[in-house]
Amino acid sequence: MIGKVRPYNIYESKKKQISRMFDNISYNYDITNKIISFGSDRIWRKKLVKVISSSKPKKTLDIATGTAEVAIELTKIEKNKVIGIDISDKMLEIAKKKIIRLKLESKVSLANEDAEKMSFTDNSFDAITIAFGVRNFENLNKALREVFRVMKSKGVIVILETSVPNNKFFRSLYKIFSKILLPIIGFVTSGDLEAYKYLSNSTLNFPNKTSFSNILSKNGFIKVKFQQYSFGIVSIYSAGKP
Ligand SMILES: C[S@@+](CC[C@H](N)C(=O)[O-])C[C@H]1O[C@@H](n2cnc3c(N)ncnc32)[C@H](O)[C@@H]1O
Repeated sequence: MIGKVRPYNIYESKKKQISRMFDNISYNYDITNKIISFGSDRIWRKKLVKVISSSKPKKTLDIATGTAEVAIELTKIEKNKVIGIDISDKMLEIAKKKIIRLKLESKVSLANEDAEKMSFTDNSFDAITIAFGVRNFENLNKALREVFRVMKSKGVIVILETSVPNNKFFRSLYKIFSKILLPIIGFVTSGDLEAYKYLSNSTLNFPNKTSFSNILSKNGFIKVKFQQYSFGIVSIYSAGKP
């Protein structure tokens, strides 16, 4: 279902459209995130890294790294080396500039790689993170199988994703915000109305927290847990590999 929610048209593959869309909105991506999340995006990413830090990873893969906000936060974990992958060259260009500016080249490397078909060998990573990425995948199960393959046994995956609040009142407010305000703000900052309409639709069509937890279990992950934040508008899922 989520693979059918696409930004621009029904003819081209979702993947092609997604990489073009993030190329288009890359320039103002960080600032738009700050505006639409009222500054909470940084706090949510820090929470994600806090969840992963207890496992003391030495090699972490950040899938759908975008402008490397999570990858950079992951370098705060002692002796952790990070690889960030994405399919948007423009997002990766911005990520690269940030990493050079912060002198983190020895800790973070970047590559244009598709989550659904990664070049890494089996059992390569202690930990894997995906922030606001899973709902953009064309084939969610294929990507999760790949995550499982490249993760070491006893490794951990932590996923941060938008979600729809359970509470009726907050759900209504959230729907008004996502359907009306989010596309307007996105249009003003990026000039791409369709992109922010898509980002809103993809959130509203993404499986709910229990369904997504079940999808993780069906793909072999164990100890699946989730925690909701900010009235349920984002959730952090964690799981392991036997
Ligand atoms: C909403 S951004 C999230 C970026 C970053 N993780 C963050 O926290 O801001 C989603 C990113 O997922 C990337 N993406 C979508 N599908 C992908 C795939 N199949 N493989 C790798 N990256 C993908 C997009 O190019 C985009 O940069």
